[in-house]
Amino acid sequence: MQLALSTWQEVESYLERSTAIIIPIGSTEQHGPNGLIGTDAICPTRIASGIEEKVEVLVAPTINYGMAQHHMAFPGTITLKPSTLIHLVQDVVTSLQQHGFTHFYFINGHGGNIAPVTTAFCEIYHASGTSNATTPRCRLANWWRDEVIGKLAADLYGEAEGHHATVSEVALSYFAHPEAVKDVAMSPEIAPNGEIYDAVDYRRKFPDGRIGSNPALATVADGEKFYRLAVDSLATDYKAFTTGDAS
Ligand code: NI
Repeated sequence: MQLALSTWQEVESYLERSTAIIIPIGSTEQHGPNGLIGTDAICPTRIASGIEEKVEVLVAPTINYGMAQHHMAFPGTITLKPSTLIHLVQDVVTSLQQHGFTHFYFINGHGGNIAPVTTAFCEIYHASGTSNATTPRCRLANWWRDEVIGKLAADLYGEAEGHHATVSEVALSYFAHPEAVKDVAMSPEIAPNGEIYDAVDYRRKFPDGRIGSNPALATVADGEKFYRLAVDSLATDYKAFTTGDAS
């Protein structure tokens, strides 16, 4: 059930059955020569819609912008300041809390969001105090960090999976949007690895935007494999989270 395609009466009746909601969160940022700028939002959005087919759940509109300051030397990237993202997450959770939602399951597609979103959770918990019986519960599920995803990526691509514009995320985005698949030769085949500081440093060290990957290996068929694994794993994790059994 999609929040954006529901009426308020349908949401009211959903709340009688469940007070949990899934919120996909991504980023709008460069993903190398063949990766889509929407990759980090497309992947969690598609995974959330797969979970929706298996479990009765309400899915909020995707937060399409994230903390992508380090990608700003590449055209098309849009970033939120970390402070903006912290406030945005707090406002989304607080709004839903007022309607009776208690469990907020964020499916994240972007590493740069982890620190601000986790900070927002701290602010939310702190604001609810120590005597409130309805303290909210928030969870950040980083789909690409799931053990089964890492194993499949290692089996299929070895070190060519990389760290940014990874083969697995490009493949999953291609599965979600086969009409947008790009055929681009990579040079070098596998991008270099290394540390980055700021946006200028990033582009100087990694001129085509990739870090450590060869996303020319990404295919729609592989993307479907990552999609199915992510849906199964996160649906199980979501159920454990909503019943209080999550680790
Ligand atoms: Ni990404």
